[in-house]
Amino acid sequence: MTRLSTERIPNNVDLSGDIRLQRALEQWQPDFLSWWKEMGPEGFLGHDVYLRTAVGVSAEGWAHFDYVKMPDYRWGIFLADEVKERTVGFGDTCGQPAWREVPGEHRNALRKLIVTQADTEPASVEQQRRLGQSCPSLYDLRNLFQVNVEEGRHMWAMAYLLHGFFGRDGREEAEELLRRRSGHPDHPRILGAFNEPVDDWLSFFMFTMFTDRDGKYQLLALAESGFDPLSRTCRFMLTEEAHHMFVGETGVLRVVQRSVELSRQSKNGDPRELGGVDLPTIQKYLNLWYSLSLDLFGGEVSTNAASFFAAGLKGRAKEEKFEDHRALAGTYDLELPGPTGALELQEVPLRNALNEVLRDGYVEDCQRGVDRWNKVLAEAGVAFRLRLPSRRFHRHQGAFAGLCFDPDGAPIPQDEWLRRRDEWLPSGADREYLRSIQARPLLGAGELANWIAPPPRGINGLPVDHLYVRCED
Ligand SMILES: [Fe+2]
Ligand SMILES: [Fe+2]
Repeated sequence: MTRLSTERIPNNVDLSGDIRLQRALEQWQPDFLSWWKEMGPEGFLGHDVYLRTAVGVSAEGWAHFDYVKMPDYRWGIFLADEVKERTVGFGDTCGQPAWREVPGEHRNALRKLIVTQADTEPASVEQQRRLGQSCPSLYDLRNLFQVNVEEGRHMWAMAYLLHGFFGRDGREEAEELLRRRSGHPDHPRILGAFNEPVDDWLSFFMFTMFTDRDGKYQLLALAESGFDPLSRTCRFMLTEEAHHMFVGETGVLRVVQRSVELSRQSKNGDPRELGGVDLPTIQKYLNLWYSLSLDLFGGEVSTNAASFFAAGLKGRAKEEKFEDHRALAGTYDLELPGPTGALELQEVPLRNALNEVLRDGYVEDCQRGVDRWNKVLAEAGVAFRLRLPSRRFHRHQGAFAGLCFDPDGAPIPQDEWLRRRDEWLPSGADREYLRSIQARPLLGAGELANWIAPPPRGINGLPVDHLYVRCED
């Protein structure tokens, strides 16, 4: 039987046994709350929302559903259960006991890894803060808020690591997390995709499909870390991340479904005639968010990735499925721009290609989702297929940054890129069109916007048209 803890900060890390840390976090808590009130979901702070709250990590106990006003959400610190006698699973110290404290020589690198992950959590809340004003249904609104409060909890998880293991620097970093702002010209969030606007629901679904999925792969790699508190934190975050990707994948699926229905009903086969989203526009949003998310994995050839791996700080996703955990032998074949700019096959030492190895798993995972969308099209007898563009398309990080490629990955001159950009990425007119069909929120029980199909089932066994978000008055 689980129950909501009465402590100020719910946790399974015995916070009350460490008074200094408890105090530090209790001081950070009001700053977090002011940040939430300023940068969290706009216009819904007083609403009752049917939310899932983590109250522990056991299989039956971690998800507790109830109505809660978001500022009263019980953000807690939960680590997955300890694995007895866990050892470092990769790199130069493979097989040695995992660390419960931060090894001095890895302190800066670990802090950097944690801060980079941490920064993405509040960033996404900021990016999504106005979406409530255009929600397609209460079901979707509730899912948006569930994602938002969990990203808030992920920030708590990271703030715990910073406060608990990095002394004064860590406390300062935790404050900085609350000071940077997504898209701010002077103090932006650290990574590119987290400064992009998410101001319509197709962007939101693509973000949770592709950008949260980058999060999954980063967390899988950090879950392998020799620094055991980081590993345990990330393992529990992954259970929540699965829901975010569900929201994205099924959200796009429902837009695709509705697109097909409306194009059948329309005179000229264009769902826009009836206020739907046409498939080419969906493809453009896919191209945008997939390419922005590919950037988050970093350079194709990376000495940082090699040294994080060597030191046992960040592994590969599901390290146990690899045979050689040192990755000292072997190479990885990469097609990279050579000195003349033409693509050349290069043999890169495996450790230097670990960003690309992580990206491989991500690309495969994305493809599975796209296949499910295409199944809807195939079953409806529609010839159009959605597809992932080439990894070289529209990149801002790594070997292809600043170079021009079409979605097939063929190099093209810059003037062609500029001329055809709007064929491949959302244009101003596309964004305006989406805003026009999402001009007002649908907040009645059972109401649904015209541009999206209903979900097949509701939340936690409740009906689809349940009152998931209740207005006070
Ligand atoms: Fe997260
Ligand atoms: Fe997420």
